[in-house]
Amino acid sequence: MVNNIIILKLGGSVITAKSKPQTLNVRAIKNIAKIISEFDKPIIVVHGAGSFGHYFAKRFRISNKQTTSTKAIIQIRESMIKLNSSIIEIFNKYKINTLSFSPISMYNKKNILLHWEDYLKKMLNMDMVPITYGDMILGSKGFYIISGDVIVKDLTRMLNPRNVVFASDIDGIYSDINDKSTLIKKVQLNKRYSINFNTQKFDVTGGIQTKLKQALDIAQLGTNVQITNGLRPRMLMKALNGEHIGTLITGD
Ligand code: IPE
Repeated sequence: MVNNIIILKLGGSVITAKSKPQTLNVRAIKNIAKIISEFDKPIIVVHGAGSFGHYFAKRFRISNKQTTSTKAIIQIRESMIKLNSSIIEIFNKYKINTLSFSPISMYNKKNILLHWEDYLKKMLNMDMVPITYGDMILGSKGFYIISGDVIVKDLTRMLNPRNVVFASDIDGIYSDINDKSTLIKKVQLNKRYSINFNTQKFDVTGGIQTKLKQALDIAQLGTNVQITNGLRPRMLMKALNGEHIGTLITGD
């Protein structure tokens, strides 16, 4: 029996240099690896694509539609495998027992296969850190992009974690991104907020707006979500430990 599971989503804006194609943010990955190696609760990591998968998705004009372009599928997958192996290499240097897998093996028709609940819990019981990522997976009419955010939501439904942390390159959700004093500390379901998303330049395939939507869906499942800054190690550590930092999204 594993309790107190934490799910951490590492946004592409943290682990890659978003404006430079296929470039890692090695320093950020190392800082995060250090935090995870010191973290003593069961944790599952899901990472995004940043300037790896998104770069090719954009180049091949793949958005939310299914595709049969083998060239696009292979390139996007290859770039994600490269990003994932680089992350694992760094994590393992920090003595994290990573166990990585593509969501391609976990999903069938938009659902996580039921036996994965047992697989993941066994891995966590063995002190392993399961790690997966946004990728291209098979749909009914071809392959489609599954975002790491959606994987986090599906894993939450399956595992009922203690909390979920989205690490991004900003401290949380701002009502006005240009004004740092407008950080929204708490977002509650069924309340109205005025948020100006338009000025957020890193919005590639949904960006923070989609993140918030997924976070609200997770909160609806009864799990608290924190959006915090993955480039600020101390903030991230606090969020993993359940301290209120950044933007907290709650169901109650
Ligand atoms: C996108 O995953 C996956 C691909 C483009 C293949 P995410 O949506 O989780 O990536 P980020 O966090 O926005 O970079």
